[in-house]
Amino acid sequence: MPLITDPNLIVGMEHAEDAGVYRLAADLAIIQTVDFFTPIVDDPYTFGQIAVTNALSDVYAMGGRPLTALNIVCFPIRKMAIGILREILRGGLDKMREAGVLLIGGHSVEDDELKYGLSVTGTIHPDRVLFNRGAQPGDRLILTKGVGTGIVSTALKAGLAGAGLVARSVASMTTLNRRAAELLTVTEGVHACTDVTGFGLIGHALEMIEGSATGMRIFASAVPFFPEVRPFAEEGIVPGGLIRNRKYREAQIEVGENCPAWLVDILFDPQTAGGLLIALAPGEAERLLARMHTAGITEAAIVGEVIASPAGKIVLV
Ligand code: CO
Ligand code: CO
Repeated sequence: MPLITDPNLIVGMEHAEDAGVYRLAADLAIIQTVDFFTPIVDDPYTFGQIAVTNALSDVYAMGGRPLTALNIVCFPIRKMAIGILREILRGGLDKMREAGVLLIGGHSVEDDELKYGLSVTGTIHPDRVLFNRGAQPGDRLILTKGVGTGIVSTALKAGLAGAGLVARSVASMTTLNRRAAELLTVTEGVHACTDVTGFGLIGHALEMIEGSATGMRIFASAVPFFPEVRPFAEEGIVPGGLIRNRKYREAQIEVGENCPAWLVDILFDPQTAGGLLIALAPGEAERLLARMHTAGITEAAIVGEVIASPAGKIVLV
């Protein structure tokens, strides 16, 4: 596809950015993103909440504020009760209300498989856009949510996940990245930010350093994850996406001897509505982390650092 150039285009399709950004005025840009997918939990209300949390996340990952949204619905009307759709939309709407986002329209089509999500529009000051790229050697990496929700969903489908674990995984997937993003906008020295979704922690971390002269060291044992997923990872009860993520990126990681295979797998687990991954100056990292913990983002942790070499690679220690 030919790339579009426009002096007001701040973020287009050339890099794997979280959302598009377009300058409307010297002090105002719009952020646009779209995301929808098939259910990953049985309860329709919960699915609606997760889908909206996930769709809004890409606006937060740019450092922006979501304002309005359009529903996107694919629904098998001939074989599924309409009440299910109502519950999905209710869950979505409640989450939009919590985020202060206005639902202003939408579109639905008949489809064999149920899908739900949003097209979201947000705003940001053009000079304050947080790109995926821009991390500098010495930066610390903060991750704001634990990983492993993909493995939990797989274990749930296999009838192996306990109710407590599923509840904590759902709680994580329905937690907006709003508060974390708000804290970022008042923090100095933030050089890059993205959100952890389908490519897993390592996949999205690699996108941050793609084509740059930097690498990353990830402190695998410092990465927050649901402890119950370890036996599932060890037994190979993992999503197909995890295996694909790992195969695709295998050549770009160096695994230290203290980092076991099951933990590497967890770091490749595809997330839905995962946390923000932030690269920021070392002096600011502890301060931001403390602020996050105070704000109730208790899972947030420093999970690595940016290094000069090996460029384009992640070293797991
Ligand atoms: Co994203
Ligand atoms: Co996205």
